[in-house]
Amino acid sequence: MVEQINQMRAEANGKIDACTNLKSLNDIRVEYLGKQGKLTNLLHSMKDINKEDRPKVGQLINLAREEIENKLKNLQIKLNEKVLEEKMSKEKIDITEPSKIIEKGEIHPLHKVFDKLIDACVAMGFTVITGPEVEYDYYNFEALNVPKDHPARDMQDTFFITDNILLRSQTSSVQVRAMQSMKPPFKIVSPGRTYRADSDATHSPVFHQFEGLVVDENVSMIDLKSMLTELLKMLFGENTQIRFRPSYFPFTEPSVEVDATCPSCAGKGCRLCKNTGYMELLGAGMVNPKVLEMSGIDSNKYSGFAFGPGVDRLAMVVNKIPDLRMMFENDIKFLEQMK
Ligand code: DAH
Repeated sequence: MVEQINQMRAEANGKIDACTNLKSLNDIRVEYLGKQGKLTNLLHSMKDINKEDRPKVGQLINLAREEIENKLKNLQIKLNEKVLEEKMSKEKIDITEPSKIIEKGEIHPLHKVFDKLIDACVAMGFTVITGPEVEYDYYNFEALNVPKDHPARDMQDTFFITDNILLRSQTSSVQVRAMQSMKPPFKIVSPGRTYRADSDATHSPVFHQFEGLVVDENVSMIDLKSMLTELLKMLFGENTQIRFRPSYFPFTEPSVEVDATCPSCAGKGCRLCKNTGYMELLGAGMVNPKVLEMSGIDSNKYSGFAFGPGVDRLAMVVNKIPDLRMMFENDIKFLEQMK
């Protein structure tokens, strides 16, 4: 029996020393230590030997088992390392290989203009607020001095949902919400989507406005003029000339239309500005005292100015985009040009 054990030990050690891969290592383990393994079988045959020899033989078998187990364990570690090394050498990264170009996203031209307007107005002390796009007729028209039968309603081809609910046709509705929820003095701007039943190269059923409102004591036309001049120069450049023309809006008195020299020809006249040298940019004015009063603000004490550019129009002018619809088609080639 002792002879047999020693022989098996030597045989197993020889096989382990010659083993070069994990598969045959596992085969060796099964061959000697498995349930039906040679060493396991020897252990089972202990019952056939003399009682007095059993402890000695048992100890010998256990020693052999320990030795084989240890050797297998050490070899397994080495073989695992070998496998890993081989894998790593195959997966070597070639750092000289040219990289794939990662396309970087870009802020939409419209939102760039929004961001600029908001940044400039926040720096001037304005608070940014928003209002609902599905709005009551009251906020969009009536409280802005445009009653139901007012002809000025024709200027805005409005989507009505019911007699009293509509898709707001202007962000001026947020002026009313501000006047009714804030105590003067206050300065607010309100960016957002607006809707009108219009669609051509310069009109889209969904478009964007940026409403501004200042209410305080002694606010005058000079404040409106200087603030808007500052804002538009920031957007179009220091050398831009700003022009104020008389206009009409029911919610402002007096009302103005504001133009800037065409950024394409710097005022000389070109196709973009239809040879006028100017681009029409926004409506503005001194808040009609009637509008202040309707929202509970004492017009003897307070006055205000308001303005409301179409942001799509500003983005078109800044980027010299000939057709408004191009901004909403999301054609990658067009957007890349705007970078
Ligand atoms: N809401 C006007 C429009 O859509 C633009 C406008 C004019 C806004 C005068 C104003 C304003 O705040 O004071 O045509």
